[in-house]
Amino acid sequence: MIIQLNHLILLILTILRCHTAATPFSIIQQPPLSISVKDFGAIGNGIDYDTLPIQSAINACSSAASARKPPSPCHVKFPPGKYLTATVHLKSRVILNIHKDATVLGGTNIQDYPKEQERWYVVLAEGEDDVGITGGGEINGQGLKFVNKFDKRKNVMVSWNKTGACLGDECRPRLVGFLGCRNVRIWDVNLIEPAYWCLHIVRSQNTIVEDVKIQGNFNSPNNDGMDIEDSNNTFINRCNINTGDDAICPKTSTGPVYNLTATNCWIRTKSSAIKLGSASWYDFKGLLFDNITIFESHRGLGFQIRDGGNVSDIIFSNIKISTRYYDPLWWGRGEPIYVTSCPRDQNSKEGSISNIKFINITATSENGIFLSGSKGGILSNLEFVNINLTYRRWTNYAGGLLDYRPGCQGLVKHSTAGLMMEHIDGLDVENVKMKWSEDNSRRWNNPLEFRSSTVNNISFLNFHSGLYSG
Ligand SMILES: *[C@@H]1O[C@H](CO)[C@@H](O)[C@H](O)[C@H]1NC(C)=O
Ligand SMILES: *[C@@H]1O[C@H](CO)[C@@H](O)[C@H](O)[C@H]1NC(C)=O
Ligand SMILES: *[C@@H]1O[C@H](CO)[C@@H](O)[C@H](O)[C@H]1NC(C)=O
Ligand SMILES: *[C@@H]1O[C@H](CO)[C@@H](O)[C@H](O)[C@H]1NC(C)=O
Ligand SMILES: *[C@@H]1O[C@H](CO)[C@@H](O)[C@H](O)[C@H]1NC(C)=O
Ligand SMILES: *[C@@H]1O[C@H](CO)[C@@H](O)[C@H](O)[C@H]1NC(C)=O
Ligand SMILES: *[C@@H]1O[C@H](CO)[C@@H](O)[C@H](O)[C@H]1NC(C)=O
Ligand SMILES: *[C@@H]1O[C@H](CO)[C@@H](O)[C@H](O)[C@H]1NC(C)=O
Repeated sequence: MIIQLNHLILLILTILRCHTAATPFSIIQQPPLSISVKDFGAIGNGIDYDTLPIQSAINACSSAASARKPPSPCHVKFPPGKYLTATVHLKSRVILNIHKDATVLGGTNIQDYPKEQERWYVVLAEGEDDVGITGGGEINGQGLKFVNKFDKRKNVMVSWNKTGACLGDECRPRLVGFLGCRNVRIWDVNLIEPAYWCLHIVRSQNTIVEDVKIQGNFNSPNNDGMDIEDSNNTFINRCNINTGDDAICPKTSTGPVYNLTATNCWIRTKSSAIKLGSASWYDFKGLLFDNITIFESHRGLGFQIRDGGNVSDIIFSNIKISTRYYDPLWWGRGEPIYVTSCPRDQNSKEGSISNIKFINITATSENGIFLSGSKGGILSNLEFVNINLTYRRWTNYAGGLLDYRPGCQGLVKHSTAGLMMEHIDGLDVENVKMKWSEDNSRRWNNPLEFRSSTVNNISFLNFHSGLYSG
């Protein structure tokens, strides 16, 4: 231990001496290295593949960055132009720096992607540290070229399912993936038209996503925004997501999700704006969502816990929601808040959901809040504080169905309430106002619905419900 420490000090002193000889403070102020893909022969005409030049630039950049003492980042620059590419592999200490007038275009042929379906990304970092993407430009998956048949309700997509590794409309490349990485930073970049999911963070630690715009297709299935899977310490700030499927979606498949924060975002989606699950084999703990605007989405804040993972210590604060009904082909029926835990199928385990706070929320919606645990997956200690709910139906949505999908009881005929509760132990409602549109209030049933056999220990403080006109 002592010897190692001595070596370390010696090493630092040596480095200090070398560098101070040339420029003082050079260790702290070293400018980042930078390499242009053009220097490696990239053409940037959007027609010829630039895969090899891009990959060579990344490899050279990574080596140069690691050779520096101390190691420091290296930027791979994309000057204005369109760079068509097969999968590129991002390496440690490399930042892709895409000029605001440059686009990295993903290939649309199965040969453009690795053999293994789990590596189908346009940009993929696997087991790398200190990696990132920035520059104000765009990565574009050409998702519209994966539409077999355009349909206003839901597009029919190409399926690369020949190997049987994936099924039906779940079988296309994702856009950007960080798998098993540490210290990831994605900032000031536009992620456009993914063919399938957009930004996928998997088994990673310390990820910052800031000033990122995601534009998918509103009618394409599985066009998710950000899927944060089995990862810890994720910070998302100032995102703008407009896409067909779930916008910010923590999932647990091989490990838990701990400590995720998302703030200052704007979201529109034909599915859930924020969704925990439905892959939920491990725990979700310590998540905060603050200052988020959700616009005309199919569902607002959602928990779809189906596989036995337990969820706790989640806060939603300062959130504006509008939800509306689109089509039964999509899960959700305009619920502003949807908290559910039920076994996906007969073989599934049940996970609990506890210590969840909703504070300072306003919602205008075509359906009510749905809180539904299950016998072995109780919802406990939920708090709703300072909530203004406006109920109004402005599409053709008639109500009358509870949506338990995915799995569980599916769609169930049942009148819709302003606040529906089942299998709950501990619910505090404080400063909650419900306003009902005078024009169509008769299309609604009870403001509150619960049975005392499944709901225990609930309290209402300063609860108000009334009609409004206009
Ligand atoms: C692959 O997907 C296509 C289109 O969705 C479908 O017609 C075909 O049956 C699928 N094949 C397999 C092997 O799943
Ligand atoms: C996240 O933290 C938990 C608890 O420390 C740990 O079990 C898990 O492996 C961590 N995940 C990653 C990807 O490091
Ligand atoms: C939680 O994640 C943030 C990054 O978003 C990090 O700064 C913080 O140290 C993490 N907290 C813990 C307890 O690890
Ligand atoms: C909330 O987020 C929006 C961006 O969606 C931002 O313009 C606004 O300044 C944020 N508000 C606060 C109080 O930070
Ligand atoms: C969830 O909690 C239950 C009850 O404490 C426990 O039996 C189960 O193993 C937990 N699930 C996971 C994935 O840890
Ligand atoms: C809720 O809103 C009030 C009034 O705007 C504010 O003072 C309070 O800090 C907010 N609470 C949270 C948790 O953001
Ligand atoms: C709810 O509406 C009341 C006025 O009726 C307002 O004072 C309060 O700030 C609103 N709360 C939220 C969270 O928007
Ligand atoms: C009732 O629920 C509240 C939280 O919602 C909790 O603080 C309290 O301990 C519970 N009381 C009983 C008797 O379980």
